[in-house]
Amino acid sequence: MKRKDSTVVGLVLITVIVCFITYFQYSINSDKLSLRTTTKKKEAIPVQFPTPFEFHEDNVKGERFLSYLPHSGFHNQRIELENALLLAAYLNRTLLVPPVYLASPAMPWLRYEKLHERLMFQTKNGLDHCVDLDARGMPLPSECLNNFRWTNVPWTFFYNMTDISKQVPVIFRPGLDYEWLYKTFRLNEEDIYFFKDMSPYEYQIHDDRNSDLPLDRFNYKIELSTLEAIDHRVLHFGSMFGSYRILAETAAHAQKLKEIRTSMIFRNPVLSGAAERIVSQLGGPNQFVGMHVRVGDGIFKLRASILVDDIFHQLVDQFTDLSVEQVEAYEGGVEQHEMDRTESTEYEIKLRSFHPVVDESANHAKPIEAGNNRHIEDKDPNIASRLKCQAGDDVTHRFRSTVVYIATDAPDPRNHPLLRKIFKVFPCTFILSDFMNELDDIKQLQVVEERVKLESYLIPMVDAMISAHGHTFLGTPHSTFTSYIERQLHPVYTGKEVQVMGLIDYLDSTK
Ligand SMILES: *[C@@H]1O[C@H](CO)[C@@H](O)[C@H](O)[C@H]1NC(C)=O
Ligand SMILES: *[C@@H]1O[C@H](CO)[C@@H](O)[C@H](O)[C@H]1NC(C)=O
Repeated sequence: MKRKDSTVVGLVLITVIVCFITYFQYSINSDKLSLRTTTKKKEAIPVQFPTPFEFHEDNVKGERFLSYLPHSGFHNQRIELENALLLAAYLNRTLLVPPVYLASPAMPWLRYEKLHERLMFQTKNGLDHCVDLDARGMPLPSECLNNFRWTNVPWTFFYNMTDISKQVPVIFRPGLDYEWLYKTFRLNEEDIYFFKDMSPYEYQIHDDRNSDLPLDRFNYKIELSTLEAIDHRVLHFGSMFGSYRILAETAAHAQKLKEIRTSMIFRNPVLSGAAERIVSQLGGPNQFVGMHVRVGDGIFKLRASILVDDIFHQLVDQFTDLSVEQVEAYEGGVEQHEMDRTESTEYEIKLRSFHPVVDESANHAKPIEAGNNRHIEDKDPNIASRLKCQAGDDVTHRFRSTVVYIATDAPDPRNHPLLRKIFKVFPCTFILSDFMNELDDIKQLQVVEERVKLESYLIPMVDAMISAHGHTFLGTPHSTFTSYIERQLHPVYTGKEVQVMGLIDYLDSTK
């Protein structure tokens, strides 16, 4: 009897303690924000994976499919997805959407069979012990080293696939193996019609028989009607990469492209949340100049200085009343200006072999110019004090109502020789590292099953999302990321319509 009594007392006591702890935790959680962030910091925010048929009915009668192989970095895969959605819409086929491959370095384009083999080889099967060892802080054996350098995330992580599946029915393909296709849709090899590409820009698909547009950089054209005549259950492509790979010449197709582009907008709540908090500190949407300056690699490194100088002069012309002499002084003299407009020879040789078509339109010998003398009005006199702007000098303090945000891959942008003149003329110029404490939850995003953090892939995206909220957007020519911001993010985030290519843009690009 006594034992039983003490058990009851013990149980009651435990219940009281548990209630107390729960209450205490609850009050901590609903209390001060600072307390919450300190407890939150350790937790990972997991990536949610959809099931293959999350946005689709299983087994639609007579359904036919389209599939392709992903490769290269995020933006190339985004262009592939856009092209594949468009073509699937033309052909009334359901798109089998592969996951996004995030890797550093990214997997390059390869001819079909090689690429498929590489994608099959890209697996974490049999490497569960790597995750265990990493979780326990143990040293990693060699087979584990690559494990943390790549991962897959679903497109639902970035985009609202409900919106996209209203344009084109989608099924998420968990891997690129054929067995899954055979099993899931009860097919065999004869049901698949393959387009196995042997070169990166092998064919372009023309949607309008009545027009005869010249080929872009592609080797040959395929008429849409040729694809329409193929009856196989699955049309399987390799690379779908390349702007203008799938033309949208007819009015109905241009409209479809516009709808698809309008639904391909970054919607991840963690990314949007961070972007919105920073945008509101900058004064809100449409209250600042957004810039996207890529100086990091390839053609951009070669051209970076010319490109930044062009952007600097656009800013000066649009938002200041500086005289030529003043601009010259802020640029560090005529010699510095001329040096800024020289290509970096270090990268030139390497690039010529990769980019045989180097843009000859870059204007190296542009003298220092200044815009007309406009009246500079102080729109919001409080902005500078709210934002912790630089003081500026007697001249530039007048431009403090022009808030500038630079999204860039340049290391240490405030001290970067190419960007210095922008900070000098516009005291209220900001970069992502000025808002470090808004990025905590991005650091927590993780593919938890694999212990792979996504921060390094996501930071450039948030940076771009912020710059896309400006009333004016100035980007890096020839960057696929810049054109994504220009055509899609900037219009949508600032309440305008997305842009689709006009015939003139296309003809321009084929020159
Ligand atoms: C499109 O495909 C669906 C099956 O996926 C079919 O039910 C429908 O009739 C097709 N529409 C046209 C216009 O062919
Ligand atoms: C996606 O968009 C639909 C409207 O098309 C909306 O109802 C839904 O809440 C959105 N989903 C998310 C996760 O934002």
